[in-house]
Amino acid sequence: MKVEFFRHSINNQDIGRTSKVLRSIFLTTGKTVAEFERRFALYLNVEDVVGVTSCTAALHLSLLALGIKPGDEVITTPMSFCATANAVLHAGGIPVFVDVEEETGNIDANLIEAAITKKTKAILPVHLYGQMCDMVKIKIIADKYKLAIIEDAAHAIEAEREGFKPGMLSDAACFSFYATKNITSGEGGAIAAGRERAEILRMLRLHGIDKSAIDRYTGRYKHWDMPLLGWKYNMDNIHAALLLGQLKRIDKLWKRRDEIWRTYEDAFTGIKGLRLLKTVGQSRHARHLFTVLVKPEKRDSILHKLQEKGIGVAVNYRPTHLLKYYRVVFKYMEGDFPVAEGIGKSTISLPLYPALKDTAISYVIKSLKSLLKQV
Ligand SMILES: Cc1ncc(COP(=O)(O)O)c(C=O)c1O
Repeated sequence: MKVEFFRHSINNQDIGRTSKVLRSIFLTTGKTVAEFERRFALYLNVEDVVGVTSCTAALHLSLLALGIKPGDEVITTPMSFCATANAVLHAGGIPVFVDVEEETGNIDANLIEAAITKKTKAILPVHLYGQMCDMVKIKIIADKYKLAIIEDAAHAIEAEREGFKPGMLSDAACFSFYATKNITSGEGGAIAAGRERAEILRMLRLHGIDKSAIDRYTGRYKHWDMPLLGWKYNMDNIHAALLLGQLKRIDKLWKRRDEIWRTYEDAFTGIKGLRLLKTVGQSRHARHLFTVLVKPEKRDSILHKLQEKGIGVAVNYRPTHLLKYYRVVFKYMEGDFPVAEGIGKSTISLPLYPALKDTAISYVIKSLKSLLKQV
């Protein structure tokens, strides 16, 4: 049996909507992007959303819009994709890592205060695998030390904790529509922010110019100016068209992933040699990545044997501080963030997507259980 690690949920309607854009005259940032931004802001219950080309771009622009300057420190987690810390470097800042909670893999909010220095300007929590960090606690710390909060919500579109969704307790929340994300346009991203900041972000995503192509295209020709130095990160109508229909179905897609998650959880609870992370109180987990933790010395052989059985797997993540660039430039070493390192050595991500069939789920469960007995 072949079980892909991921299959997207783009359907004929999404393709039809995208074809319509392709047959129109206007391909770049225009009405379809504006409609996606409006609908996504409504979904998140935030003032505004700005569409960009990736979550990395979203993080980069958010850090700049919040005034991160060369040498400023940004507190974040090593248990993430390298894009999170890289975006801090792109903005000229210094990522300062704080270890994570054993139970969830999220940044341990109780350790943040000890990492704050005179140079700290922001906190960048990552809602790992779709479970939100303790944003209430993080917000209290940020207010006490006058720090900005930028959320990496790449995994967490549908998430909620204690009544707060991404974007509600922060200055900016960044989303990804990368190929394996809960909704996807192949590549893509968005920032949720207050209206004033969103206006600046709209300029920053397009070189810092004050009129987009749609402003120039409609009505009498208007000259544009460039008050800021920006980047070229604007989402186009083609990508927005792919996302619009998925956004309408987002809760239905979540429901199926939640069902699969619970099936996995029931099957793997109490199994010898395997640990699961926890979903903590009063939260809605976005169910982005389902991971199991096995004995570190067995992880790679289980990973490879699952592949041999035709099951797609991934490792999310080996911690950022131990990647070569970070070791060489920042002199990080093994032992610096032991909880993140423990997860990094023992984690395996299993297939989780709405199109996953019940027979495939049973096959994944049976295969992993029998491998745990063998290796
Ligand atoms: C936690 C996290 N942050 C940031 C990113 C970067 O997203 P993008 O590929 O859209 O730049 C990813 C992408 O996989 C991610 O998983």
